Amino acid sequence: MLDLQRRVAKAADLVTVALDELLPRAEGPESRLTEAMRYAVLGPGKRLRTFFAIETGRMFELEERPVLRAACALECIQAYSLVHDDLPCMDDDDLRRGRPTVHRAYDEATAVLAGDALQTAAFEILAHPDTHQDGSVRAEMVLKLALACGARGMCGGQMIDMVGVPDDLGGVARMQRMKTGALIACAFELPLVMAHAGEAERHALMAFAQDLGLAYQIVDDLLDAEGDPEKLGKRAGKDADKGKTNYVTLLGAEAARDRLALLAEQTKAHLDPFGTSAEILRASVDFVLERRN
Ligand code: IPE
Ligand code: IPE
Ligand code: MG
Ligand code: MG
Ligand code: MG
Repeated sequence: MLDLQRRVAKAADLVTVALDELLPRAEGPESRLTEAMRYAVLGPGKRLRTFFAIETGRMFELEERPVLRAACALECIQAYSLVHDDLPCMDDDDLRRGRPTVHRAYDEATAVLAGDALQTAAFEILAHPDTHQDGSVRAEMVLKLALACGARGMCGGQMIDMVGVPDDLGGVARMQRMKTGALIACAFELPLVMAHAGEAERHALMAFAQDLGLAYQIVDDLLDAEGDPEKLGKRAGKDADKGKTNYVTLLGAEAARDRLALLAEQTKAHLDPFGTSAEILRASVDFVLERRN
């Protein structure tokens, strides 16, 4: 576990330095926007999507730099989704990554624009020739990221979260897979595209990624119910307060944990075809389950 923690920390450092280089500097009359973008994305996120992308890249023996650019794109989307998720019209949160949310530190209009511009920055990074020499690979990466974030992915899931899911586990699982699972799955999918992986490998790894994404959100919901806000860097207890429907509010924490344990075994089993080359990804399932922030 300790080794994994070191790997995550190393991935986080790498992506933060790369993002700092890639994002526009605060200059000119629009500097409020670029400052807010930097505040949102350079803040202390866990960078687990980066870690997943880098470790998948290693499994396929990809060069690190293009994978790191893909990770920058994923972290821009992640930051944008959180900036918008925290807005008063959505979850109305004041604290994120241990600091005031963007609309609190700046204002709502700035938060909306910073989210918008982080989203386009993600696609700009992927589409840039520095990401991959082959234009058709870049186009496929752009397509995969767009699908993960759009109406059938993260945004669609966020919409279901806002309007309320019916009280059944199937509906909740679908929402979770969309709002959180899709972007997490994309962290595995972008390196798969760069590796020109075959159908069988793609299929197995995406099945793993999708289950891991669902598990990730169930852990988030458990932490909301039971976690320590100091460690979380965000408020706890907000899902129950807001009447949100998720595995924990629906089943209770104990039963949600039981489901999570089953899901974890199923998730790891998808990696069987990769043998020992998937050791780190296998261990990352327990890492996700045991996270406290
Ligand atoms: C928070 O994601 C919102 C979810 C999708 C569960 P993370 O817990 O990965 O947040 P950061 O990026 O580390 O802040
Ligand atoms: C947000 O889920 C998922 C996103 C797509 C941003 P939550 O609303 O549960 O995330 P937190 O708990 O605010 O981080
Ligand atoms: Mg939310
Ligand atoms: Mg929220
Ligand atoms: Mg949450």
